Amino acid sequence: MMVKINVGGCASFVKETEYKNYLEKALQAFDVLEAENGAGNDFLGWKHLPSQTPESLVKECEDIRDDWKAKGIDLVVVIGIGGSYLGAKCAVEALSHSFAKELRKAGTPDVVFAGNNLSEDYAAELIDLMKERNTACVVISKSGTTTEPAVAFRIVKQHIEETYGKAEASSRIVAVTDAHKGALKTLSTQEAYRTFVVPDNVGGRFSVLTPVGLLPIVLAGFDIRAMLEGAAEEEKALSCRCESNPAVEYAAMRNLLHTEYGKAIEILVSFNPKFQYLGEWWKQLYGESEGKDTKGIYPASVIYTTDLHSLGQFVQDGARNMFETVVTVENSNRCVTIGSDAQNLDQLNYLAGKHVEHCNAMAQLGTKLAHIDGGVPQLEISVERINEKTLGAIFYFFEFACGISAYVLGVNPFNQPGVEAYKKNMFALLEKPGFEEQTKAIKARLGK
Ligand code: PA5
Repeated sequence: MMVKINVGGCASFVKETEYKNYLEKALQAFDVLEAENGAGNDFLGWKHLPSQTPESLVKECEDIRDDWKAKGIDLVVVIGIGGSYLGAKCAVEALSHSFAKELRKAGTPDVVFAGNNLSEDYAAELIDLMKERNTACVVISKSGTTTEPAVAFRIVKQHIEETYGKAEASSRIVAVTDAHKGALKTLSTQEAYRTFVVPDNVGGRFSVLTPVGLLPIVLAGFDIRAMLEGAAEEEKALSCRCESNPAVEYAAMRNLLHTEYGKAIEILVSFNPKFQYLGEWWKQLYGESEGKDTKGIYPASVIYTTDLHSLGQFVQDGARNMFETVVTVENSNRCVTIGSDAQNLDQLNYLAGKHVEHCNAMAQLGTKLAHIDGGVPQLEISVERINEKTLGAIFYFFEFACGISAYVLGVNPFNQPGVEAYKKNMFALLEKPGFEEQTKAIKARLGK
């Protein structure tokens, strides 16, 4: 089992009998997920992606990497939003050198993300960058109709066609979209782009192990075979119907804290800045899966020790409506020891010869004890180190646990009706054809 859990940091907050009761509820939810007879059961295609992804699909992703390498492509613009963005962004951030941009490793293109906002400055600066570089693009949209990526793609496509010519553009643009429908599918057919399919039965936030995540991750120079292998090991481990299944334990404890103790907020904590976007990916996964029907635990995220110097005060001492889930990385990949200094003016010689990670681990333990003393229960999820394999396992762990958890909460984990509301208003305000009535109504509401 690559992902382990420790719920010991909640023991002083909950009764053992209640936890048993919630473990039972989580096991019942596990049964629903495994029998595939619960709400949203037409969106369970993610469950067996790790073990059933064909070699040919992995190879196709690698072929694009090799093809673009041969062309000397040094910039890949990955366009997508929400589930069509966050998994790849999370993996690239977690696996890249912290100073990759400054080091500019030859042979691997820089992967940048676009289409995840509507900022004009961002668009203009992306054009500045593309003008300096040898550019290709992966455009990802399951529906093929989402406004943010569509706007970004129009800009990037135009740049690529004007710079390299229309014929060459078709070999520099790859689309990841629905097998049959949507504007992006139509355009890809017309322009003869290479395409990858987002399976019908996999929702955006569960799609990181489809080409939505795999293609950008391999293009950024990472080993997607190892990632799938790690996820497949986790798929197997989590198929155990038992109280010691970490996904069952996680779902049980977070629902117990929420339902019986009024904990409204879960903070995903990492002591490693490489996991900043794991927090962003996890927030979408849990926020969109559980936040509906006026229910849900609000997902937040922090990076410690950085945020101990900002939000730490609130977590220690503010409103007692939260719990923490700490993602622990047991070993760092690199070693740096603290040196000794003859003058010792900074009085750090007591740490001389110690690894920086030792200080981090002590900060983590000290924080755990302090936050528990301050009234914040703590769950701990741990992996041995950060690499493709463990990241694949983490992705699968949180997805599987999310399915169980949302069923315990009593919501459909696989729909997202709430995200349509802003779109309707935006289309009405932008005067999109077909929205004439809504435009009139919204203008009247705004007194225009
Ligand atoms: O999880 C989801 O379903 C959403 O976040 C979508 O991924 C997001 O809205 C982007 O949708 P699409 O891929 O259709 O452009």
